[in-house]
Amino acid sequence: MKTIIANWKMNVGVRESVALARGTLLTLRGRKHIPELVILPPFVALSEVRKVVARSGAILGAQNVFWEDAGAYTGEISARMLQEVGVTHVLIGHSERRQVLHETDEMINKKILHVFELGLKPILCVGETAQVHQAGKSKDVVAQQLKAAFSSAHLRPSDRLSIAYEPVWAIGTGQSATVSEIVEMHVFIRSLTQEILGERVLSQIRVLYGGSVDGENAYRFLREKEVDGVLVGGASVKINQFKDIVQAACEVLEAQSV
Ligand code: 13P
Repeated sequence: MKTIIANWKMNVGVRESVALARGTLLTLRGRKHIPELVILPPFVALSEVRKVVARSGAILGAQNVFWEDAGAYTGEISARMLQEVGVTHVLIGHSERRQVLHETDEMINKKILHVFELGLKPILCVGETAQVHQAGKSKDVVAQQLKAAFSSAHLRPSDRLSIAYEPVWAIGTGQSATVSEIVEMHVFIRSLTQEILGERVLSQIRVLYGGSVDGENAYRFLREKEVDGVLVGGASVKINQFKDIVQAACEVLEAQSV
C-alpha cells in the first residue's frame, strides 16, 4: 500500500476546500490500483470536506491538535472535537509549527500521547534544517526528535503511526532530497522507532517522505520499498500536479501487483 497525504496548509478557505476535495477525489476515478488518500484541510473546512469525502474511501485528517480535552485554551482545538467532525488522522510537529509557532519537542510529545490515548492516528513530522544537513548531522537531529516525541509512549496493537521525513530545506523550495538520502533516512527512522517503541511495532509504522514532492519526482520516491507514501504540500492544492502524483502512485501499485 502507498499513501498520499495532501496537506493543504493555510492555502484554501471553505469554498475552495470543497472544490479541491471534489477535484482530488476525481483523480482516483476509474483506477484499478489506488493509493490510500489522506486529506488535511484547514480546521474550518473539515465539516464541509467531510461531506464531500464521505463514502469515498478517502481519509480526513487535521493539520494540528491540542493535548487537552477541553478547558481554557483559547484558540486551540481538541482531539475530541476533531473526532466529532470525522477526523481520524492528525499531523503533529510539522516544521512550520516548530519554526513559526515555536512548538517544542515537549509539546509534540504531549500531543502524541494524547492522540494515542484517544485512538487517533498521528502523522509525526521530523526533519533537519539546511544548516544541520550541510553539517552532516541530519540523523542526530531526527533521532532526537523521535526520542522526544515518543517519550513514555506505548503502542497498543490497534494503534497506527505514520512518520513523515520532511527536511526543512526541502519544504516549498523545489529542491527535494535525493532518493538515496530518503531511503537511508527511512531505514534509520524505522529502526530507531522500533528501538524506542518495541520490537512488535514494525507493522504498525509507516514512513513517508515530504518536501517538494511533485508530479515529476513522485514516481522515483514511491517506487522505493522504504517509502510508504508521500506528504504533499504545494502540489496538493494544484489539481493538475496532484493528479500526476496520484498517477505515479497508481503506476507503482500496478507494477507491484504483477
Ligand atoms: P511542499 O510539498 O510544498 O514542499 O510542502 C511539504 C510539506 O510541508 C507537507 O507537509
